Amino acid sequence: MTEFEPRIVGFLCNWCSYAGADLAGVSRFQYPPNLRVIRVMCSGSVHPAYILEAFKDGADGVLVAGCHPPNDCHYISGNLKAQRRVALLKKLMLQLGLEPERLRLEWISAAEGEKFARVIREMVDDLKKLGPCPLRKIEISVTAESD
Ligand code: FES
Repeated sequence: MTEFEPRIVGFLCNWCSYAGADLAGVSRFQYPPNLRVIRVMCSGSVHPAYILEAFKDGADGVLVAGCHPPNDCHYISGNLKAQRRVALLKKLMLQLGLEPERLRLEWISAAEGEKFARVIREMVDDLKKLGPCPLRKIEISVTAESD
């Protein structure tokens, strides 16, 4: 029997965490290949609907990674917006029968390649314990509306 390999979707801010992921690769920090990266301009641009879509489409875990608060966000307060959204979405996930631990928010700068690798290793370990996402097979309709 093969071991469950979780699928992780990572929304990485272009200015910090994406560069941190790049540094992890260049520095050859080891982390499992379970991550699929979506490069975004700011963690604050990640609408909760995108996260639910990722779970619906087969992700077992979602990472939102952005610039360190309070002042590193290139769009002033996008990281704080992401923080509020993730906190609310975790509550909604509980109501949907999804473990909130499947969603992780991290602040990873361009200089923190080692932290990036550690976060991915931790997520893979945690998700292996949780098992496949129960939302995978459920049809839900979510739409992103501007706010
Ligand atoms: Fe990186 Fe806003 S620009 S979180």
